[in-house]
Amino acid sequence: MALGNESRHGMWSSRWLFVLAAAGSAVGLGNIWKFPYIVGEHGGGAFVLVYLACILLIGVPIMMSETLLGRAGRESPINTMRKLTTTHNKSRFWVAIGWMGVVAGILILSYYAVIAGWALFYIWRMASGTYEGATPEFAQETFASFQAEPLHMMAWQTLFMILTVYIVGRGVIKGLETAIRWFMPLLFVLLIVLLGYSSQSGGFDEAVTFMFRFNWESLTPQAVLIAMGQAFFTLSLGMGTIMAYGAYLPNNTSIAGTVFTIAALDTLVAIAAGLVIFPIVFANGLATDSGPGLMFVTIPLAFSMLPGGAIFGAVFFLLVSFAAITSAISLTEPALAYLVEEYNAKRRRVSITLGVLCWLLGIGSVLSFNAWSDMPLLGQPTFFALVDHFSQNILLPLGGLLISLFAAYVLPKTVLAEQLGIRSGFGRTIWVLLTGIVAPLSVLLVFISALWPGGFDRLLALVA
Ligand code: PHE
Repeated sequence: MALGNESRHGMWSSRWLFVLAAAGSAVGLGNIWKFPYIVGEHGGGAFVLVYLACILLIGVPIMMSETLLGRAGRESPINTMRKLTTTHNKSRFWVAIGWMGVVAGILILSYYAVIAGWALFYIWRMASGTYEGATPEFAQETFASFQAEPLHMMAWQTLFMILTVYIVGRGVIKGLETAIRWFMPLLFVLLIVLLGYSSQSGGFDEAVTFMFRFNWESLTPQAVLIAMGQAFFTLSLGMGTIMAYGAYLPNNTSIAGTVFTIAALDTLVAIAAGLVIFPIVFANGLATDSGPGLMFVTIPLAFSMLPGGAIFGAVFFLLVSFAAITSAISLTEPALAYLVEEYNAKRRRVSITLGVLCWLLGIGSVLSFNAWSDMPLLGQPTFFALVDHFSQNILLPLGGLLISLFAAYVLPKTVLAEQLGIRSGFGRTIWVLLTGIVAPLSVLLVFISALWPGGFDRLLALVA
């Protein structure tokens, strides 16, 4: 069976649309909400360095692998893996990559919608002038009292889920394309405005030191696992999203250049978000390790002191919500495309079913901030923490590991050469070095050191 040139779901009209769509998927709550708060929880500098290393050494090769597998198969991740394994007579085991991705996507979307719901609520909260002249205590208390009300939170979670299901159901490419074209540049502009503000806030130097100074003591194996998980999460890797989007990528596009652009954009937004949030934290004597609420306290506070802050603040949370929607949509694509292919089902029906499933699961995350906040589960402090940890730190890296191994060793050289345009033995050596050795070995080492008690020391003893 020949590999297809067109996907039945449609094709991006150019390389730039793929860049936009993949960047829309990558840039989201992971960059603006999550990155600053986990940097804060893990003591800054050394964590950021490990994160950057993970993006470059693990993220980029795996994103290239996902894109090329998607383009080689031109189906949903599950069917792409079925097609590639059957065509080239390889073990069906590799189809597990597709299934794991579907599970990860549903788990992630379940809590993603909850946090995105907070952002929706904050559009309204900022616009109504709640924060004019606010003090740090006021910003903290208003956030805490919102978190204490599960029904209120659920209302916004539901609204976000309805919006996502609506857009996904209508078909992604047209609606999304226009949205991303406008909103991503706007998000950049607003981040730059905020950077200007926070650089004047008096805490900028302290923030830069905090984010870029290497304090090795804070770097536990657990923190390294979280940095790696974040690299996967922020680039939307390891669960088939990029594979699904790669399936719609035209054949004549260079994968390497495209992937670098996406990774660079994503990293810039995350660093910028950190450089906006931490100066405000330091200037106001807030705690760096205040967790998931960090952005929802610092950003309203910053805007409360700016002229026209209510409007700008509302626009900021509007853009965060948009960034979240373009990511949420991509979280459903692997499952959605599969169900459409397999059952010849209508996109709208499938998206409603998936939406309801994620919504139900998401209630567990809503309750984790109030009624269930004291209910540890399997070693994690709450249900939300468990779902987040299991999907981001286990499922995504595991998926990524399998993807890189498949792309480096199982996929025939001819397909690889055709997809990547590798012509020389040298090119292939670099590819195998990065995708077949550096990326999977790094993932494995991080897993062993973090998940196996004392594993890191034993590993060292073996080598020494
Ligand atoms: N990359 C998105 C973010 O940073 C989240 C995401 C993860 C989207 C996995 C798709 C797949 O917010």
